[in-house]
Amino acid sequence: MARILITSAIPYINGIKHLGNLIGSQLPADLFARYQRGRGNEVMFLCATDEHGTPAELAAAKAGKPVAEYCAEMHEVQADIAKRFGLSFDHFGRSSSPQNHKLTQHFAGKLAEAGLIREVTEKQVYSNADGRFLPDRYIEGTCPNCGYEKARGDQCENCTKQLDPTDLIDPRSAISGSTDLEVRETKHLYLRQSAMKDQLDAWIDSKTDWPVLTTSIAKKWLHDGDGLQDRGITRDLDWGIPVKKGDEDWPGMEGKVFYVWFDAPIEYIACAKEWADAHGKPDAEWERWWRTDKGADDVRYVQFMGKDNVPFHTLSFPATILGSGEPWKLVDYIKSFNYLNYDGGQFSTSQGRGVFMDQALDILPADYWRWWLLSHAPESSDSEFTWENFQQSVNKDLADVLGNFVSRITKFCRSKFGEEVPAGGAYGEREQALIEELTKRIRAYESHMEAMEVRKSAQELRAIWVAGNEYLQAAAPWSTFKEDPEQAAAQVRLGLNLIRLYAVLSAPFIPETSARMLSAMNTLDTSWPEDVTAALSALPAGHAFTVPDVLFAKITDEQREDWQTRFAGTRA
Ligand code: 2FM
Ligand code: ZN
Repeated sequence: MARILITSAIPYINGIKHLGNLIGSQLPADLFARYQRGRGNEVMFLCATDEHGTPAELAAAKAGKPVAEYCAEMHEVQADIAKRFGLSFDHFGRSSSPQNHKLTQHFAGKLAEAGLIREVTEKQVYSNADGRFLPDRYIEGTCPNCGYEKARGDQCENCTKQLDPTDLIDPRSAISGSTDLEVRETKHLYLRQSAMKDQLDAWIDSKTDWPVLTTSIAKKWLHDGDGLQDRGITRDLDWGIPVKKGDEDWPGMEGKVFYVWFDAPIEYIACAKEWADAHGKPDAEWERWWRTDKGADDVRYVQFMGKDNVPFHTLSFPATILGSGEPWKLVDYIKSFNYLNYDGGQFSTSQGRGVFMDQALDILPADYWRWWLLSHAPESSDSEFTWENFQQSVNKDLADVLGNFVSRITKFCRSKFGEEVPAGGAYGEREQALIEELTKRIRAYESHMEAMEVRKSAQELRAIWVAGNEYLQAAAPWSTFKEDPEQAAAQVRLGLNLIRLYAVLSAPFIPETSARMLSAMNTLDTSWPEDVTAALSALPAGHAFTVPDVLFAKITDEQREDWQTRFAGTRA
C-alpha cells in the first residue's frame, strides 16, 4: 500500500471562491485523493483557509467585523461549501491556527540560525491617525497619470499604471481617510533565497517528470534578470503571526508579523498537526507524513495549484524547508493549472463576475459541476466556461450516456425479472468482447489518473460508459427476451454488474451519484476492478436491487437562458 500526501493550494479567507478557483486546485486534488483511496492506498489530503495579510484585514473591515471573528466565520462558510462540493479533505485547517503560529516561528528561528535571514531597513508610509504603517494598497490618492481620485498606492485601477505610494497626489489613508501621513524607517526580515539559488536550481533540474508549465515558471524566476531575489518575509500589520525566533522574541521586530506567503505554505504542515490534535492522535501520527526521519521518506507528496502559485511552491517554500536544515518532506510532484475563463471574459472575485461555489450549488447538485469542470480542466491552456457547453456536456455525458444506461437496465430488469439480479446462462462472445474493451480502457483510465491527466481521465471514463451503452444497444435484451429469456437474463446480469463497476470507477468524479448507484445496487462492494471478469460477477444471481430515481436531469434551454442572464452581471 502506497502512502500519498496531497495538498491543495489554500484559498484566501476573503469571500467565497468561484468555479475558476475550484478547478485550479481543490477539485483536481480531490479527484486524485479519491482515486488513490479507491485503489486502496493510504491518503492524507489537506487543505485550509489562508487567513492572513492585507486582503483579510480589508475584507473584515468592509464587513465591519474584527478580523479574527471575520476569519472564524468565513472559515465555517468555506468549510461547509467544500463539504457540499464533496471535497474529501482529511482536514480543512486554518493558517491562523496556534499550530501554524508555532511552526512558522520555528522555521524562522531555524532559518536565522542557518544565517539565511537578513535585516533590511526600509522607508514606508506611516499614518499618525491610524497609529500604523500602511501597506501600499492601504494608501489612496489621485493618480498622477490619469487624475483618477481613488488610485491605490500600488496601482491605479483606472489606467492600470503601476505606482509607488509617494507618486500619489494628495495621499490619504484608505482606512481612516486621514492625510496626516509621513515616511518613516522600518526594519524587515528578508529570506536569503539568492544564497540558495544553486541548490534550488539543481533540485528543479532533478524533476524531469514535472509538467513544463511548472518547471518553466520556476526557471524563469531563477534565471530572468538578476536571478532569484531575496524575499521580504515580514510586514507591519497587526493581523498575522508575530515575528519570533522559535519561542524567543526577535529584537527590533516587535509589533510585526510574518508575510502571508511565508506562513501559508507552512500551514500545509501545521494542518497535519491540527488534524492529529483534533483526533487526539500523538505527534508521531502526523510526523510520519512530514518528517523523513519519522517515516515520511516513503511518502509521495503531490501539490495542486493554479499557475500563479507556482513560484512560491517551487522556490520560496522549498527554500524555507531546505534552509531549515531539518528533515521535512519536500514536494515530489507539482500539478499546476492554467485559468478557467467565464463566458467571454474572466472570472473575477473583486468584480463578482462568474459563478461562485455557493451559487452553483443553489442551482444544481455538485456532481453536475464536478463533471463539467474536471472534464474541461484548464490543463494545456486556459479553458472557458460557457452555458451552452455546460448544458451540452451535462445532457450528453451525464443524462444520455450514464443516466440513461442505469435507468434502462434497471427498469427492464424490474419489468421482466423483478428487482433482483437474474441468473441466466454464462457470458458469451459479445460479453467477452466487451470485457476486453473495458479491460483495455480501464487500464488506460488508471494510467491517466496516476499521471493526473484530468481531461484524458474524463474522456476515458466517458468512453467506458459509452461502451456499456453500445453493448446494451447491440445485445438488446428486450428483443432477446422474446426468443431466449436465458440469454436476456445473462445480458441483464451483466448490465446490473456494470452499474456497480461504473459507480466504483466514477466515484472520484461524481461521488454523490456513485453512492446513489451503489445504494440502488444494494452493495457495499467498492473493490477496484483489477480483473474485469471477476468485477462483472460481483453481484450474483438473486441479489436484490432497486431502481434509482433519475440520476441526472437534463438542463432545458429555458434554464440555460435564465442562468445565463442571471449570472451575466456581477454578484451582489
Ligand atoms: O492564491 C491563493 O489563493 C493563495 N491563498 C494560495 C496559497 S497556497 C499555499 F501557499 F498555502
Ligand atoms: Zn491612473
